[in-house]
Amino acid sequence: MTAEEIRAHLDPIRDQFAEERSLVLPALKFAQGEKGHLTGDDVTEVAAATNLTPAYVESIASFYDRIYLDPVGKRVVSVCVSLSCMLNGSDELLEHLCSREGVSHEGGTSADGEITVQEAQCLGACDRAPCLQVDAEETMGPVTLSEADAVADRLRAEPQPRPVLR
Ligand code: FES
Repeated sequence: MTAEEIRAHLDPIRDQFAEERSLVLPALKFAQGEKGHLTGDDVTEVAAATNLTPAYVESIASFYDRIYLDPVGKRVVSVCVSLSCMLNGSDELLEHLCSREGVSHEGGTSADGEITVQEAQCLGACDRAPCLQVDAEETMGPVTLSEADAVADRLRAEPQPRPVLR
């Protein structure tokens, strides 16, 4: 992804943002695109397209848990670890999914590259704790361990194209 391509994507929406630096998020989402994560070159190109420093762009990219600086699986399962979910067993849910997918307790991608498990902050569904979210689109809860297994089985059986971040 080049800075020119990123600028071409940003130009039609530029007027929607009061400050130039606010364009960094749509630029990062666009650069992440179909491959699903950012490379160091992408960060550099986003910086060039938005007149920001690569360090600033990387600090923004690393803050958001839907912007990936490393490759992720075809599907991403985010387990909420904020207060309501934690009090209702999300730590056990996360540990169960990580163990099942063979990744560290902090998350990671299964050996077959199908599923990434990650922690997430509040998903906005605290009344349904503990919650998880699939591909930043489908939020569900309360989720039992067996339901989490069923979700992972379904995702592995029905892979879909990587969703475009909104
Ligand atoms: S605390 Fe988990 S959805 Fe809000």
